[in-house]
Amino acid sequence: MQKTALVVGANGVIATNLINHLLELDDWNVIGLSRRGGKDTEKLKYLAVDLLDAKQTIDKLSGLKEVTHVFYAAFQNRPTWAELVTPNLSMLINVVEAIEPVATNLQHISLMQGYKVYGAHLGPFKTPAKESDGGHMPPEFNVDQQQYLEKKQKNKHWTWSAIRPSVVAGTALGNPMNLVLVIAVYASITKELGLPLRFPGKPGAYDKLMEMTDAGLLAKATIWAATTDQCANQAFNITNGDLFRWNDLWPKIARYFSLETAPPLQMLLQTVMADKEPLWNGIQKKYGLNKHSYQEVSSWAFGDGVFSWDYDFIGDGTKARRFGFYEFVETEEMFYRLFDELKAKKVIPA
Ligand SMILES: NC(=O)c1ccc[n+]([C@@H]2O[C@H](COP(=O)([O-])OP(=O)(O)OC[C@H]3O[C@@H](n4cnc5c(N)ncnc54)[C@H](OP(=O)(O)O)[C@@H]3O)[C@@H](O)[C@H]2O)c1
Repeated sequence: MQKTALVVGANGVIATNLINHLLELDDWNVIGLSRRGGKDTEKLKYLAVDLLDAKQTIDKLSGLKEVTHVFYAAFQNRPTWAELVTPNLSMLINVVEAIEPVATNLQHISLMQGYKVYGAHLGPFKTPAKESDGGHMPPEFNVDQQQYLEKKQKNKHWTWSAIRPSVVAGTALGNPMNLVLVIAVYASITKELGLPLRFPGKPGAYDKLMEMTDAGLLAKATIWAATTDQCANQAFNITNGDLFRWNDLWPKIARYFSLETAPPLQMLLQTVMADKEPLWNGIQKKYGLNKHSYQEVSSWAFGDGVFSWDYDFIGDGTKARRFGFYEFVETEEMFYRLFDELKAKKVIPA
């Protein structure tokens, strides 16, 4: 049966890949929602909406009666964990309150979460984190969003699922959280300066266990959970399925970029990359790259966050497997594939 997906946060690292994957499948029409909107195609329509504006959201979504599945992956960045709560909870509430009354055949609402549910952003947390682990002290917007959905779903015919990826790897641009882009642009600038590639994180972060979630794998898992009956009203960790330590992977990434490595040197990327815009503009010109502003390719604060985790950062991915999702991605190969993609798209030098 033909289904219609409303993908919320359509220009994000996560939603961009979700949309691309939905379009590869035969039985989906897609509506992509974000403030910026996008270019319509036969199977994909964009809707430019500011979800912080409840009235605008109701108005603009009032005609979407064909929507069967909502995939929520919007995100508003704020400087503190507490400040993230109000805008991110409001956006979800506004979209659900607007779509539920008009989409009479609504079947599912999928919520994109992360390991903040486990307190991973606060410090060393219990690993591998399981979906059944106990909660932690608020404020935390992922938990509030899930609680809102659980309450809203009571006595309804639609169901929800919550998807919990680790750090997500994709090649979308202009997003605050994109680790692949952080490493690719950091390496390209390092190379241009003739320097070795130093791990910039905390000394204790270099040898801890890490994992990633490929955005393509995440897209498949998200759709699987949204369309599989036994996944109704459940949360799932979704990860590549392998683990790594930066002290093993970092020199390999350096080799990919034909760079030497040198011992790690702790530095905040936000600080040391702040003056590199003219250099970046020069690199774009020198290597004939497509024009992307320095802002569009800079997720330095997120890089600083990830490289500061001097504790294991891993979830238990077996629940999804027990429920029937068996795909995996080899993380080292994934990094090279995504760097290759950035080169092919002329975002970084070949
Ligand atoms: N990236 C990661 O590594 C990662 C890892 C684990 C979990 N997560 C979680 O996954 C979720 C999505 O993350 P992401 O990294 O994909 O986010 P993202 O790249 O920042 O994308 C967020 C999307 O939300 C849209 N948006 C923001 N404000 C909006 C508004 N007022 N109205 C309508 N649309 C709005 C943005 O598009 P416009 O600018 O066009 O509005 C953008 O398309 C978040 O909850 C995040 O915590 C992310």
